[in-house]
Amino acid sequence: MPYKSVMMPITIRNFTFPNRLVMAPMHVNLADAHGRVTDALIEFYKPVAENGMGTIIVGATSPAPGGGFGPKGLNAFDDEHVHGFSRLFRMIADRGAVPGVQISHVGRQNIVPGVTMVAPSAIPAPFFEGKVRELTHDEVLEMEDRFAISASMLWSAGARLIEIHCAHGFLLNQFISPASNRRKDEYGGDLGNRLRIVLNILRKIRERVDQRLIISCRISSEELVEDGTTLEQSCEIASTLLWNGADIIHVSGGVGYASGLMLKAISDGIWLKNAGIIKKHVRGPVIAVGCVNSLTRAEEILDAGAADFVAMARALLADPELVSKSLAGREDEVNTCIDCNACYAIISPEFPPVCCTQKPVLS
Ligand SMILES: Cc1cc2nc3c(=O)[nH]c(=O)nc-3n(C[C@H](O)[C@H](O)[C@H](O)COP(=O)(O)O)c2cc1C
Repeated sequence: MPYKSVMMPITIRNFTFPNRLVMAPMHVNLADAHGRVTDALIEFYKPVAENGMGTIIVGATSPAPGGGFGPKGLNAFDDEHVHGFSRLFRMIADRGAVPGVQISHVGRQNIVPGVTMVAPSAIPAPFFEGKVRELTHDEVLEMEDRFAISASMLWSAGARLIEIHCAHGFLLNQFISPASNRRKDEYGGDLGNRLRIVLNILRKIRERVDQRLIISCRISSEELVEDGTTLEQSCEIASTLLWNGADIIHVSGGVGYASGLMLKAISDGIWLKNAGIIKKHVRGPVIAVGCVNSLTRAEEILDAGAADFVAMARALLADPELVSKSLAGREDEVNTCIDCNACYAIISPEFPPVCCTQKPVLS
């Protein structure tokens, strides 16, 4: 069989993934004004689900009002959100992929104008306009509960993998990072304290949700900003998370407010290299991501022992049939992502649906 390592099933928590390929979470501006799943969102994921992707992690989904990324982001904190997710996850599962979803709160990186943002400390993020307010101690506890309630709701709707977004400068990353957390209570100070909110979320999810739920934590392996988390700290963070209820570490990097550095690091393969270093340090599965545009590249990463899963985002915007074409030996027919980043137009003021210069993803 071609791509033997890519196509090798793997079992986590008694659940067998059909292969090692993960669609990385992407926010695509296709939810409705209430943050509900739309038919257009289901249509967006359908070709990926039916063309051989092992797992699909649906993009950033907010566990609380005000936590979403823009006005067309997904929410999962109210009964009205459940029905659409049930349809979406059923569509994915029926096509043989494992349904997953990322839970994320923007914190001080809110792109909706005029909102007072919440964060571990009242420090604005560069380039993000608006007031930032420090979460009170009780509000931090409430936020932990909200992540756990959201996970429970999404599990009931059919998600089998939940990813907790601790990366890219969003709320949980803001707690972890010394650059954004100056709290004086037990949620600030040393690394153990800065990780407390995430560890409590993991514990609360495990208390509340069926034990078969697979939890991934996406981390920023290096923030590349002053006082930001270093790779060495991330090795410790990854292993602490795995000891405390996480099943998988998804190694990304960077922060949204330094997006130029983040995109360059992706192009330069820095997160892939970091995944390999973290993989050596931890006892648990790792997802690698960053400019993987072919199954050949995914196979190389797995064969090198640098990860257990390989995630792709933009390559699947360029061609949702990348996997099925490659498995059929039709690699030359794949529309290849050219790393132009035009898809990041999702964060322009009109919040348009995601697009790709190589293929109109929504025709
Ligand atoms: C349009 C778009 C939306 C994204 N949304 C998210 C998101 O919701 N959550 C997240 O953790 N990363 C998000 N990302 C980052 C991707 O998951 C991925 O880490 C990044 O694109 C690098 O992988 P690639 O080179 O395979 O595209 C997004 C990327 C793109 C292009």
